[in-house]
Amino acid sequence: MTMWRCETSSVEETAALGRRIGESLVGNVVIALVGPLGAGKTHLVKGIATGNGLPDPAAVTSPTFVLVNEYEGRLRLRHLDLYRVRSSRELFALGFEEMRESGSAVVVEWADRFSDAMPVETLWITITPQVSEGGRRFEFRANDAKTDLILQAVAGR
Ligand SMILES: Nc1ncnc2c1ncn2[C@@H]1O[C@H](COP(=O)(O)OP(=O)(O)OP(=O)(O)O)[C@@H](O)[C@H]1O
Ligand SMILES: [Mg+2]
Repeated sequence: MTMWRCETSSVEETAALGRRIGESLVGNVVIALVGPLGAGKTHLVKGIATGNGLPDPAAVTSPTFVLVNEYEGRLRLRHLDLYRVRSSRELFALGFEEMRESGSAVVVEWADRFSDAMPVETLWITITPQVSEGGRRFEFRANDAKTDLILQAVAGR
């Protein structure tokens, strides 16, 4: 298990962090985002999608009601929001298993609601709002070789 943490102090810095993740993304991995309402999960995804090659980050919105968004880019990127998903059965009905094994990358907001459903190939990112205005702490955790490589690239090691 590898861990790394960093902080951002603005939406722009979070987008830049996301872009570094998007540039290092590989297929068949899950990026699991954990953090309270308004933590910055969707803003990080905007950066991830941009780093993966999506021209306009305005296309990235919380798929709270549609549940799954898909963005063009180098890799196919799926974006799930599990806030309103009530059971792991519902998650599997969305096709979660297929999408994470189809060569695409899957980024999941509120992944901790169904942590048992996340594969070993999951890069966990926990976002904690800081006391300082606009401050956010990001804690990365990788449990396998693939996600560890992404973490190392983002950390610049
Ligand atoms: N450093 C920062 N990084 C990201 N967002 C920030 C930061 N500082 C302030 N913000 C604000 O926090 C909010 C983050 O909203 P965002 O939709 O990304 O959160 P979220 O975690 O996806 O919430 P939800 O659980 O409702 O989907 C925005 O209003 C943004 O302007
Ligand atoms: Mg969101």
